[in-house]
Amino acid sequence: MALRKVMHVVNGVERMFFFEPTQDTLAETLRRYGLTGIKVGCGAGQCGACSIVVNRNVVRACMKKMKDVAEGSVIETIEGLGTANSLHPLQQAWITYGGVQCGFCSPGFIMSAKALLDKNPSPTRQDVREWFFKHRNICRCTGYKPLVDSVMAAAEVLRGEKTMADITYQHKKGAGIYGTKYPRPAALGKVLGLADYGDDIKHKMPEGTLHVAVVQPRMASHALIKKIDTSQAEIMPGVAKIVTAKDVRGKNIIFEPNFHQRSILKGDMRPIFNDKKIFFYGDLVGAVIADTEANARAAAAAVRVEIEKLPEYTNYLDTIAPDAMRIHDKSPNTYLHQPVFKGEDARDVIDDSAYSVEGSFYSTREPHLSIEGDTQQAFWDEDGNLTLANKSQSIQWNRESIADGMGIPLGKLRFIENPTGGSFGWSTCAGSFAVMGVCLMALDDPNAKLTLTMSYVEHQAYSGKRTPSHSNGRMACDKNGKITAIEFDFGVDHGAYDDISMNLVASYARYCGYPYVIPNVRGLVRMAITNHGFGTSYRGFGSPQAYTCGEALVDMLAKKAGIDPFEFRYNNLARPGDLTINSHPYRDPAIVELYDMLRPIYEEAKKRIAAKKEDENYYYGLGIASCGFNVSIGAHDHADIALELMPDGSVTAYNTWQDPGQGGDIGTLAHTHECLKPLGLEPDQIKLYINDSHRCPNSGISAASRCHYMVGHATKDAADQLIAAMKKTDGTFRTHTEMAAEGIPTKYGGSFDITGYGGGAVDLNPNTGEADPVLTTTYGVKMAEVAVEKKTGKTIVKRVVFVSDVGKLGNVLAVEGQAYGGISHAVGFALTENYDDVKKHGTMAGAGVPTIIDVPDDMELLFLERDRKHGIHGSTGCSELYQSAGHMAVMNAIADAIGGRVYTLPATPAKVKAVIDRVAAGKPEVVEKWRLGPDMYDVLEDIKNNPV
Ligand code: FES
Ligand code: FES
Repeated sequence: MALRKVMHVVNGVERMFFFEPTQDTLAETLRRYGLTGIKVGCGAGQCGACSIVVNRNVVRACMKKMKDVAEGSVIETIEGLGTANSLHPLQQAWITYGGVQCGFCSPGFIMSAKALLDKNPSPTRQDVREWFFKHRNICRCTGYKPLVDSVMAAAEVLRGEKTMADITYQHKKGAGIYGTKYPRPAALGKVLGLADYGDDIKHKMPEGTLHVAVVQPRMASHALIKKIDTSQAEIMPGVAKIVTAKDVRGKNIIFEPNFHQRSILKGDMRPIFNDKKIFFYGDLVGAVIADTEANARAAAAAVRVEIEKLPEYTNYLDTIAPDAMRIHDKSPNTYLHQPVFKGEDARDVIDDSAYSVEGSFYSTREPHLSIEGDTQQAFWDEDGNLTLANKSQSIQWNRESIADGMGIPLGKLRFIENPTGGSFGWSTCAGSFAVMGVCLMALDDPNAKLTLTMSYVEHQAYSGKRTPSHSNGRMACDKNGKITAIEFDFGVDHGAYDDISMNLVASYARYCGYPYVIPNVRGLVRMAITNHGFGTSYRGFGSPQAYTCGEALVDMLAKKAGIDPFEFRYNNLARPGDLTINSHPYRDPAIVELYDMLRPIYEEAKKRIAAKKEDENYYYGLGIASCGFNVSIGAHDHADIALELMPDGSVTAYNTWQDPGQGGDIGTLAHTHECLKPLGLEPDQIKLYINDSHRCPNSGISAASRCHYMVGHATKDAADQLIAAMKKTDGTFRTHTEMAAEGIPTKYGGSFDITGYGGGAVDLNPNTGEADPVLTTTYGVKMAEVAVEKKTGKTIVKRVVFVSDVGKLGNVLAVEGQAYGGISHAVGFALTENYDDVKKHGTMAGAGVPTIIDVPDDMELLFLERDRKHGIHGSTGCSELYQSAGHMAVMNAIADAIGGRVYTLPATPAKVKAVIDRVAAGKPEVVEKWRLGPDMYDVLEDIKNNPV
């Protein structure tokens, strides 16, 4: 391959580069030269993660061919901006104002902002937003507002109006950090571009590391595999091995156990490599191991797969059609039913009530769209453990789910979490972990080392998604607006594999009609296999789908009863002692107080919007939605951690609080510092050693808003033991040396188990839907203001106010970060995001990732901070709350604006315009009920007669 030489001035230094002119991009060339602060996310010009400054202009380096960069160009990258001891104001501001979560986008944003401030030292917030929009800088974590805050603060420093100290968090010696804006420890490395994510590590692996490329045919969503022909690929340059199902030493299964008594499927049908059937578009039939990434990819493309296409059922309605074939032999396509019974038969109550409404809704297949895709390494460690370094959001669970399938004893399978550029749930169940393990084993070489970077398109096709759902619902109230009954029927498209449906089904069965008092309930959740991306964890986990039905019905019923939707909700909110639809008392509710906080804001907004009703170009609307989610998973959730006193008097915290960006590091630090308060340690005397299965106790999955709560309690347990062991009779504390001299252990394990704690939690009854599987929950209410363009139907979210109760805030930046991020995903869920069409939606932009212009800058967060019952330091968890019902505030605002409802997500301009036209034509709404299978009441009767 012929190379070309070029000289550029990079970060102030003239440097020489050799590159291959026909294909090398600026991003990959500079990264090869060690500048891995330039991140590559989409690799397609859509995300801006690779933004650098070339000759004073922002350039997306992944799209720029090296040969097209003029000789002698002046190139600025994050590496040249500041150092750990001398940060650029932008870097400091990013740390201080919550600009860093996963941090994968941070270098690109910061360099883009640098170019802006070089040109315009005094931008307005709108200037900043337009700049980031123009340069396609996408952040999936922060909701953008903190990034604009950061730019504005840095600009003040650069203009000399503020000092660096003004924009730096000032920790006072001896002060607590719990409940403050103490910055997360990992932020520094991320703003410097020094955090090495998976694809960065690829460049830093030792010599001899081989590259893996997946064989993902993407030919069909349902097919029989007739032949996998690797003969051509095997003789291609650099190929070390081609791995298919026949090379798997174990059961070739990724096992996600499903213990739901009503589930026919048990979570054991997902192959690591498919060899008989393709079940969905993203399935893998093999992998190629080669000396270079390019050779691995070329050989993977040369693997010939012959298939016989089968009928494709890519949504719930198709898969339950009477003539649809079984996708998995073990079960009919509908494999799980969860009922909810409470009070009287809802049919009769609804018919007899003063007002009733009905609707049929669709919540779409929402893609996570983390900016970093799937990247990882595999090697044997010095103790002979097969070591997988990846983005696991659930280290222990992932190990357990793949060890047997790979054919390795669990104890020999080690997981390490790499710095992770976002996930939002997909990496709780990433099958690629097993792919890497199988490939490493197949080489039979204790010195083998592997690295894998999926393309974004491969990752998008392969990773799980939020389950889409069709729902039919009815709700009724009396003449005073008191809700009398709800009826709901969900048809859930769980995609190709039964993955985490046991927990997911409980969300559907709990959050339709939450957090109201509804005396009579009949509900059914039907889960079905389809030939689409499998359902997996995603912030909110099942609740957004449930609220899509519930929060629309509440809004429609308020309108029907002629009551303001705020007042209608207020009158039906749960108070202490009231029961959920699952006949269990709401956990420690203060929802009324949240509405009281919102009331004056809502009244003001209502008046302001009413005054705009005559606007020529836009309809304006106001919507609200009640929100809530559980904290922890199931009635037996458990977490272990450990604390160790070190010889220098510091304490090391060990846990597996996986951190895809939400802040496992700051959570660990804040909890540990708070729990060890009597020792008087400074934050820098607490060291973190987290997310390594063979060095850290199992703290459980990073999901269900559980880690802050579960790990926090477990930390308290360990801290109490350590403090007790260190304490002398005179009240002072032993040093490490004294402990050692007295033979007192210096390391203590702490644990927390929901079983039996605080009166206990009970898993949802599979026959009745009764009980409550968690001890504590979060509550909220979100208000959204929208403008809908009359001509096009395009919706602009102008403002969001979110009032929430997550107890005491553990770290303000982290909680606000989850809130802003959740709000931005909810805007996307309502308006743009989709993964129904595997081709059109196969990229970040194609799938509708919200840009900075889509997410309002006007976001206000109000917190009801109070000591939560069963909380840790008064806190619960927080994350999922902010992406539970938030999209429905937007959908309800659209309905308010245009006088009609969009029933299916996302509310694209075309759909909104169709409703505008229908309303203008005076045409009545037609509610077509989805055909979800046998009559719901017949199914409920059958369940009642056949309990499990
Ligand atoms: S725009 Fe270059 S990586 Fe996304
Ligand atoms: S912090 Fe922006 S993508 Fe994660």
